[in-house]
Amino acid sequence: MFYPAIRKVLFQFDPETIHELTIKSLKNTGKSPLNFFYKQQVQDKPVNVMGINFPNPVGLAAGLDKNGECINAFAAMGFGFVEVGTITPRPQPGNDKPRIFRLPEANAVINRMGFNNKGVDYLVSQVQAANFKGVLGINIGKNKDTPEENAKDDYLHCMRKVYDLATYITVNISSPNTPGLRSLQYGEALDELLSALKAEQKVLAEKYGKYIPLAVKIAPDLSAEEVNSIAQSLIDNEIDGVIATNTTLSREGVEDLEFGGEQGGLSGQPVKDKSTQVIKLLSEALDNKLPIIGVGGIASSLDANEKIQAGASLVQVYTGFIYQGPPLVKEIVNGL
Ligand SMILES: Cc1cc2nc3c(=O)[nH]c(=O)nc-3n(C[C@H](O)[C@H](O)[C@H](O)COP(=O)(O)O)c2cc1C
Repeated sequence: MFYPAIRKVLFQFDPETIHELTIKSLKNTGKSPLNFFYKQQVQDKPVNVMGINFPNPVGLAAGLDKNGECINAFAAMGFGFVEVGTITPRPQPGNDKPRIFRLPEANAVINRMGFNNKGVDYLVSQVQAANFKGVLGINIGKNKDTPEENAKDDYLHCMRKVYDLATYITVNISSPNTPGLRSLQYGEALDELLSALKAEQKVLAEKYGKYIPLAVKIAPDLSAEEVNSIAQSLIDNEIDGVIATNTTLSREGVEDLEFGGEQGGLSGQPVKDKSTQVIKLLSEALDNKLPIIGVGGIASSLDANEKIQAGASLVQVYTGFIYQGPPLVKEIVNGL
């Protein structure tokens, strides 16, 4: 692998331009012999979580392949599972550019993308075309211009569209870049949303003759009390898994860095301990009643093992993968 050399060139350019170019080239090469540039064999480390057999516990986190255009390419890199999205019912442009910033001194990124995506129908067409046989998570959200009181309808709409194609579905209520989204993590709003999704899951399971697990993705910026209350709601509503965590609003440790003051969610090394702390709290509160997928600042097998020790059954990477590329997947799988 020559990722360090490639990264040197890539990092000369604006992050979003590089992101778009990368997605385009991965989309075109995922199933072709040209995937030898990034294809790699990783060891089998099978695990069963949420009733799903994962070939290994290392996944691609949501947000990198928002429209599900490169599923086969990421699978070729050795990921045990790929999570696409966040997708919304209707296409939307997201926030104004620039909206993604690298903070290399902290191995971090700040983004305020705002769920830019081509809409759920486009994602469905991409997933169908990919004909992927591995584990595929589809992460769903709400459109920016859908009023908060109607958020549930957006999630239900996406859930119905993707149910037959996903191995599991993630309900994203933790992006900091969609106004009001995080308020769905609390109290009655959360219970109402989860009970509606659970009821729909029953209907769809009947319709398609298969049970597709539901996972909920939460923020790192939660008090112990809030984590406990979320855990209780997940148990009460018989949710199948929880993904912890999304990006943080904290700027601890990056205040003085270039771009450290940009608005949005901070990811990578600075969110690592916060996310591990949430996993520990969740693990105590959930008492093994549902599994945890750990994400936030994983940049080595050591970091991944830390998440597993805290209570995670699977892990995901995003920012570490931006900095290290496909070799990171192999390093983590080998070191688990
Ligand atoms: C540029 C960018 C876009 C993201 N978009 C999404 C998204 O659409 N949906 C989502 O659930 N998480 C999204 N995330 C959050 C990641 O999936 C992950 O939870 C978070 O970045 C912490 O992991 P990391 O430190 O390994 O990056 C995004 C992260 C980044 C950096």
